[in-house]
Amino acid sequence: MKSNRRKFLSNLALSSTALSISLPTFARVKNEELDSAIENQSGKQSFNMCGYAAPKLETVRIGIIGLGMRGSDAVERLSFIDGVEITALCDKYSDRVSKAQNILEKMGRPKAKEYFGEEGWKELCESNEVDLVYSPTPWQMHTPIALHAMKNDKHAAIEVPASKTLDECWQLVETSEQTKKHCMMLENCCYDFFELLTLNMSRQGMFGELVHAEGAYIHDLSKDWLFNKKAYVDMWRLKENIGNNGNLYPTHGLGPIAQCLNINRGDKLDHLVSMSTHDFSLNNMAKDLASKDNFFSEFVDQPFRGNMSTTLIRTQKGKSIMLQHDVSTPRPYSRIHLLSGTKGMAQKWPGPERISFGHSTVKQDELKSLYEKYSPPIVKHIGQIAKEVGGHGGMDFIMDWRLIDCLRNGLPLDQDVYDAAAWSCIVPLSKKSVARQSKSVAVPDFTRGAWINNKPVDLTLNGGGTTQVRKIKV
Ligand SMILES: NC(=O)c1ccc[n+]([C@@H]2O[C@H](COP(=O)([O-])OP(=O)(O)OC[C@H]3O[C@@H](n4cnc5c(N)ncnc54)[C@H](O)[C@@H]3O)[C@@H](O)[C@H]2O)c1
Repeated sequence: MKSNRRKFLSNLALSSTALSISLPTFARVKNEELDSAIENQSGKQSFNMCGYAAPKLETVRIGIIGLGMRGSDAVERLSFIDGVEITALCDKYSDRVSKAQNILEKMGRPKAKEYFGEEGWKELCESNEVDLVYSPTPWQMHTPIALHAMKNDKHAAIEVPASKTLDECWQLVETSEQTKKHCMMLENCCYDFFELLTLNMSRQGMFGELVHAEGAYIHDLSKDWLFNKKAYVDMWRLKENIGNNGNLYPTHGLGPIAQCLNINRGDKLDHLVSMSTHDFSLNNMAKDLASKDNFFSEFVDQPFRGNMSTTLIRTQKGKSIMLQHDVSTPRPYSRIHLLSGTKGMAQKWPGPERISFGHSTVKQDELKSLYEKYSPPIVKHIGQIAKEVGGHGGMDFIMDWRLIDCLRNGLPLDQDVYDAAAWSCIVPLSKKSVARQSKSVAVPDFTRGAWINNKPVDLTLNGGGTTQVRKIKV
């Protein structure tokens, strides 16, 4: 990409290397200043994608890249939605494409065009039969796929996290602005029922001024998933946990609380500090498995990331956020989802769901009334059907339906490219802070000032709500 920002980055990188050769201590300070300049380097938005409404698409033709565990579920879910055609399917492995064709058949949908091989995704992005590229692939493919899709006149919907590096975050932002194509990160947790309830309650001022929020991805994936030969293809997710010491999966926890705090839409993430523990289990597990099965030998004595990563973020307006990430100790699943304000608080995990406006939490019947009164229109409109279709209790389907309904009605998406970048940049920035003994690291303003006037996420269904759901017996 030939933008001024990227020239600026390479010039700075050159000058910082030169500085570090002869003056170690001074240079270290200088390098940190330069790094911070790199991360905050602003330039101007070429176009504001926040609130951007693309031209309506009566039928949304979807190409799905990545047909593993998540992708095959997406084929089924999207098949329920009217106004959708799944026109293209792609995976590195052809048998996965065939299995996805079987799902289409089961759902009463026509066969899709097939793409496979390591680079088949490029052809799919370049094809004429797709409006939206939907991609549940391993993490390193999200940004390249989204960039190629947008450059070839397609909207992009990519799984979480959107990017692994800061430079990738900026590439997504610049490309979405230049092409005026949506780049949505598929953060399904923003559409879970308690999260939507508390988003609307925050908007109505029920918690007063929000002061602090917490989120997490705490899910013991180690034995049954990371080290399971039949789970993530080519063991990609175990490999991600090697040599990457930080929060690798921040967006499930951060997305919903960022929406409550109006991040990029009235406030912004300013800086963070991050700390990781040592690894106390993954290498032991690798050794244990390798002693019985040579397949696991390559994973022994690798630099596994610490079990628990904790990040603290301060926002421009002085709010704080705590994020945690742990996929390798035996704890119950938790995304925490805690909101703490001047008038009340909410917390989802550990269960039960709790809301309080004082010293004690409200009773179950009051919580039920709050659900009835404050669940936003999308829940009332599609929540019950979503529970029946499924996908993490329904939130996956609410997300898919809303994405399609917005594209069909020419509405702005709830999650834009700035959200994708700001929520995903915690991956590289937490790693950087950990590597520097938890030093403070600036979070870039991907909106380049537009956060001050950007409107909060629209919780109405105004202008939309027209997309029907098919009655299919699965
Ligand atoms: N939002 C959620 O709740 C949620 C849940 C699970 C997974 N995910 C995300 O979904 C993504 C996929 O995860 P998964 O669990 O399905 O993993 P998976 O390993 O089951 O599937 C990944 C698929 O991508 C395919 N792939 C790999 N390289 C490819 C290439 N070059 N071209 C085309 N296809 C290629 C693989 O063959 C595989 O079928 C990940 O980014 C993960 O973080 C999100």
